[in-house]
Amino acid sequence: MNPDAADLYGGMSPYYDAFVRAQRDYDAIAAALLELLGDAATVLDVGVGTGLVVEHLLKRRPALDVTGIDVSPGLLAQARARLGDRVRLHHADVCALDLGRRFDAAYSRGGAWTFVRDGGRPALASHILDLDAIGESFARVAAHLRPGGRLIISSSNAHAGSEGRLDGDVRYDRRTTVREDADQRVLVLEYTFRAPGRPPAHQRVEARLLDAGRVERIARAAGLAPRAGADPQFMTFERAR
Ligand SMILES: C[S@@+](CC[C@H](N)C(=O)[O-])C[C@H]1O[C@@H](n2cnc3c(N)ncnc32)[C@H](O)[C@@H]1O
Repeated sequence: MNPDAADLYGGMSPYYDAFVRAQRDYDAIAAALLELLGDAATVLDVGVGTGLVVEHLLKRRPALDVTGIDVSPGLLAQARARLGDRVRLHHADVCALDLGRRFDAAYSRGGAWTFVRDGGRPALASHILDLDAIGESFARVAAHLRPGGRLIISSSNAHAGSEGRLDGDVRYDRRTTVREDADQRVLVLEYTFRAPGRPPAHQRVEARLLDAGRVERIARAAGLAPRAGADPQFMTFERAR
C-alpha cells in the first residue's frame, strides 16, 4: 500500500461521522451526484469513509449497485455498520486498486481527492501526496471504468477553518494552513476534538494541491478526458471510448 495512504483519519475516527454530518447536507450531495450519474447502474466510491454518501444515494435510488473502497479500517467499520450487505466494501488504496471489474462511474466526494479553491482558483487537493502515485491513482480508476464511464470529483469547503460543538458536548476545531515547499503546495488540516472526561483527540491530514492544468495532464495521461459540466460543485472526466 502506498505509504501516503495509511489510515489517514484513524485519530479522529470516533468523531469523524458526527463531525461531517454537522458540516454538510449529505442528502443534497446525493441528489446532485445522482443528476451527474445519470443512468449509471454500477458505481465506485473512492474514499467511502463512514458510508454517508452511499446511504443517501441508496435512499434515493435503492437499485444502485455501489462498491466502496477506503484505506481507513476505522471508518470502513462504521460504513459496514451503516450499510450492511447492501454495498461491497473493500479495504483498498486506490493507487493499487484491482477489483477485477468495471463500473459505469466512479466518484470521490471528498475522498482520495477533492477540488478546493486555492487562491481563488480551482485546485485538486489529493490525499495521495506523491505525483507518480497520483498519476497511478487516476490510471487505476480509469482501468475500472467501462469505455465512456465517468469519474466525478466533488468540490469541498475543506480549505476553511471551523470550530463548534457536536452532540455529547464534544468541541472541535479545524485549522487549515498551506505549506509551500520548493516544488509543491500542501494543504494541512489539523483537527482537535475535546470530549468531557476523555483525552483530546488530534488528527493531522495533508493534501497536495495541484492546479487545474496539471490535473488535466495527469487525467489525460490516464485516459480520462475532462468534460465540461453545468454543476460547479463537481469536476467530471470521461474514459475514452
Ligand atoms: C474526508 S474523508 C471523506 C469520506 C466520505 N467520502 C464522506 O464524504 O464522508 C476522505 C476519505 O478518503 C479516504 N482515502 C484517502 N486516501 C485514499 C486512498 N488512497 N485510497 C482510498 N481511500 C482513500 C480516507 O481514508 C477517508 O475515509
